[in-house]
Amino acid sequence: MSTNDGITDFEGRVAFVTGGARGIGLGIARALLRLGAKVAIADISEDALDRAGDVLGASPDRLRRLRLDVTDRQRYAEVAAEVRRDLGEVSLLFNNAGIIDSVSPSSLSYEMWDHVMGINLEGVYNGIQTFVPAMLTSPRRCHIVNTASEAGLLEVGSGFLYHASKYAVVGLSESLRRELAHFGVGVSVLFPGPVATEIVENTRRMRPETAPPHTKRVTEILDYAHRLLTEQGAPPDGVGELVLDAVETNAPYIATRDELREALQRRTDELIGAMRHAEGFLAGFGADTARLAT
Ligand SMILES: NC(=O)c1ccc[n+]([C@@H]2O[C@H](COP(=O)([O-])OP(=O)(O)OC[C@H]3O[C@@H](n4cnc5c(N)ncnc54)[C@H](O)[C@@H]3O)[C@@H](O)[C@H]2O)c1
Repeated sequence: MSTNDGITDFEGRVAFVTGGARGIGLGIARALLRLGAKVAIADISEDALDRAGDVLGASPDRLRRLRLDVTDRQRYAEVAAEVRRDLGEVSLLFNNAGIIDSVSPSSLSYEMWDHVMGINLEGVYNGIQTFVPAMLTSPRRCHIVNTASEAGLLEVGSGFLYHASKYAVVGLSESLRRELAHFGVGVSVLFPGPVATEIVENTRRMRPETAPPHTKRVTEILDYAHRLLTEQGAPPDGVGELVLDAVETNAPYIATRDELREALQRRTDELIGAMRHAEGFLAGFGADTARLAT
């Protein structure tokens, strides 16, 4: 089996999309249905799942809606067994559920660390541990798409918890891509820029009641972000199509816009500058750093 080919035979395949009841996940589900796949959407919001069923309008043999909190491992296993029984083995996995939350450094909170990492990072891992074992022995190519963010590539002011979770998703995805390649499983990572979804409001509703409240300034920033996304963000259905285009070519990275090039270049230049500085600096102590390079 070639390790570089993407997947073009979507007809009849089974796809699992977390956070699939709204926003980008719903866009991915719609694109999958259009290509003939059977789709299971899993989401924490029962209301959103109900609405998604109406919007997608597919028959029950092609669409399953499942209530799932991606941090709940036991429920994840039950849901996966249900999908396997009703639709078949999952060969396309979209670890997409996420929130955009953080805390101020002046009100650090283990609860918020667990909340953000639990959904944005562990939720992705739970999907991987649930579905990858069967993918390893599958006779067909399989594919996983993990949703990160531009905030997984660069510090863009989204709060350090959110950034930490998304950088981790990028590292996990890049490494997993290499490790799964010879099993015929592709891995892509999605870096959405602003997309027209209600993520800011959905996140606010999910913030634990006992978490430190946002400061006035953060509240204003979030209000602004909500307006920016909903008024100027990319269409989620378009992002869904872009994601499947990447599955077809087994692309490692999926971006939704071309705005960060200069900032990314600056970051790369600074990293390389630090490496050059280290070489010269440590040479003064008699170190041959190049010799240690792997
Ligand atoms: N919208 C953007 O501009 C943007 C930008 C960068 C990254 N992202 C990422 O894209 C992904 C999707 O975001 P979106 O904008 O479509 O948001 P959204 O709020 O429209 O959709 C996310 C869905 O995930 C669900 N969800 C949240 N927590 C969950 C949990 N614990 N278990 C199961 N489902 C859960 C929500 O109910 C919601 O339906 C997220 O990972 C987000 O971080 C979005």
